[in-house]
Amino acid sequence: MTIPLKSLKSGFSMPIFGFGTWRIGGDYQKNPLNPDKEQIAGIRRAINNGITHIDTAEMYAQGHAEELVGRAIKGYDRKKLFIVSKVWPTHLKFEDLLRSAAASLKRIKTDYLDLYLIHMPNPEVPLTETLSAMDKLKEDGLIKNIGVSNFTVKTLTAAQNLTHNKIVANQVHYNLIYREPEISGLLEFCQKNDVLLVAWRPVEKGILAKTGTELLDGICAKYAKTSAQIAINWLASQKNVITLAKMVDKNHLLENLGALNWQMDKRDIEKLRQFFPGQKQVSEAVPLA
Ligand SMILES: NC(=O)c1ccc[n+]([C@@H]2O[C@H](COP(=O)([O-])OP(=O)(O)OC[C@H]3O[C@@H](n4cnc5c(N)ncnc54)[C@H](OP(=O)(O)O)[C@@H]3O)[C@@H](O)[C@H]2O)c1
Repeated sequence: MTIPLKSLKSGFSMPIFGFGTWRIGGDYQKNPLNPDKEQIAGIRRAINNGITHIDTAEMYAQGHAEELVGRAIKGYDRKKLFIVSKVWPTHLKFEDLLRSAAASLKRIKTDYLDLYLIHMPNPEVPLTETLSAMDKLKEDGLIKNIGVSNFTVKTLTAAQNLTHNKIVANQVHYNLIYREPEISGLLEFCQKNDVLLVAWRPVEKGILAKTGTELLDGICAKYAKTSAQIAINWLASQKNVITLAKMVDKNHLLENLGALNWQMDKRDIEKLRQFFPGQKQVSEAVPLA
């Protein structure tokens, strides 16, 4: 299956749906009992089914998620993949950031990242220093594009003003339940300023894959789609929004891929935006900063 791309006016584009690796290889710590083989197989299955966008971070399992990505992508044509990693907020000083990027590349066993994100801001490190390091990585060809994650309109604007490169993406918690990007104006800002909003946790770790919500169940029946498929399509149908899920389980992967390549009626998108029950205004996992 071909995953469609979403493009910015600047010319940047990336696949509208990707594979996330949070909790692959462990969580905040590497888990020595982790089923590495199974998870590598999960990533490879995703690639074999058309996924090219793989999202990881130096923080995930203390680098072990990146190592597993490196092992999983071995043998595939690197040019066909879109690999994203993130630098943790304690490594945002100039030299620290360069070191982090080099270590991520080594673990992933690649010469470059398609997109490198500042995982979240750190008010103790001047953004100007961080962006200079990101610019240097781009100049040196180690990263193809610069992005951020969990940034507000204010911090995103500040970051954009400190680099001559385009900040192409802001990865944030956004789904049918968590609406901070709508409420804060970030979604509209990204749409108006040619930035992709990459929505993490689209199925809210499985919560949005359940039935039992009258509105969602009705929309599922109308399109003959599951709750998870509606939740993912709702994101990917919106201007400048793309998304990514962790889906090591084969059935989850195949179900989620069924969220793509069909169009939900705009009225249903707005109905879900307005009336989906239990909406939260701020992320309880990682609020914008
Ligand atoms: N920038 C940030 O601060 C940040 C924060 C959080 C996440 N992220 C990124 O975003 C990615 C996605 O978010 P997430 O992993 O937290 O949450 P998610 O993708 O919403 O949920 C993943 C969990 O839901 C399960 N799942 C996936 N599809 C399902 C389906 N159709 N039905 C039922 N369960 C399903 C997965 O199980 P299996 O794996 O067993 O299939 C996994 O346990 C992360 O992996 C990470 O790469 C970024």
